[in-house]
Amino acid sequence: MIIGIDIGSTTTKAVSIESGGASPGLIKKIKTRAVDAVTSAAGAFGKMLVENDIPIQDIEKIMITGAGASKIKNDLFGISTEKVDEIRAIGIGGMFLSGRENIIIANIGTGTAIIDARRESISHLGGSGVGGGTILGLAKKLLPTSEFNGIMELAEKGNLSQVDLLLEDIMETDISFLNKESTASNFGKMLDTAKNEDIALGIVNLVYQVIGVMSVFAAKNKNTGSVVVTGSGSNNPVGKKILSVITELYSVRFEYPVDAEYTTALGAGLFRQFFRP
Ligand SMILES: Nc1ncnc2c1ncn2[C@@H]1O[C@H](COP(=O)(O)OP(=O)(O)OP(=O)(O)O)[C@@H](O)[C@H]1O
Ligand SMILES: [Mg+2]
Repeated sequence: MIIGIDIGSTTTKAVSIESGGASPGLIKKIKTRAVDAVTSAAGAFGKMLVENDIPIQDIEKIMITGAGASKIKNDLFGISTEKVDEIRAIGIGGMFLSGRENIIIANIGTGTAIIDARRESISHLGGSGVGGGTILGLAKKLLPTSEFNGIMELAEKGNLSQVDLLLEDIMETDISFLNKESTASNFGKMLDTAKNEDIALGIVNLVYQVIGVMSVFAAKNKNTGSVVVTGSGSNNPVGKKILSVITELYSVRFEYPVDAEYTTALGAGLFRQFFRP
């Protein structure tokens, strides 16, 4: 069995993968808060084994990736431990979970990375510091809660026209393919009557619109009509609704594979199988 560990900037994810047999795949998964890199990796590894009754002698290899991976210098617990480049891990995990090759991936974590993943090469197209961390950080100063579920509960009930300057505020007609409800400027209106719900929606909208349009440009540039969304940000119902509006405007679909929060950990765990000649 192989354990893939992704030490992200906010959360650490671990997966166990059956390494023998023709069809490797994810068996168990766990998530924990990220602290310092060594504690995160050791903690995630321990949690995986304890929660799933996995004997330590069943583990052949530990594959580590993510922002904290560079801080792990030695083998963990005497088990062969290898580091995997995070971009390649996301690419491999995204292709595995989507069941497709030649895809554009938007990995929404604390920040956001856009990746072009093909069997023959995986490349980092770019990204943005706008991501899940932006939501939590802005909420901390602007809302009474900076807890993820609390922010989303507020955002579900928000009214964007209290916060964003919309096209209907400034134009009598549609502008090209945009309609009257489209955002002309995120937070460009910010009425005094805006409630916490409206501000919460404004924050999530800002983040997912930026990610959505950036992903669309990447997809169009690579002549593909869809984007595979991964990272914990793929599991955000308000965000998904915002991306579905982007799909209507730009005709690029967003796909959300099952277990997409574990894409990076899974890609690290599958690294050796993927590159086996
Ligand atoms: N329960 C949840 N469901 C969906 N998203 C969440 C949840 N809890 C937190 N998030 C969001 O996910 C973000 C973290 O995503 P993720 O775990 O993919 O990042 P990371 O891997 O730690 O960071 P990075 O890859 O950028 O280094 C948080 O900033 C938060 O906005
Ligand atoms: Mg990550």
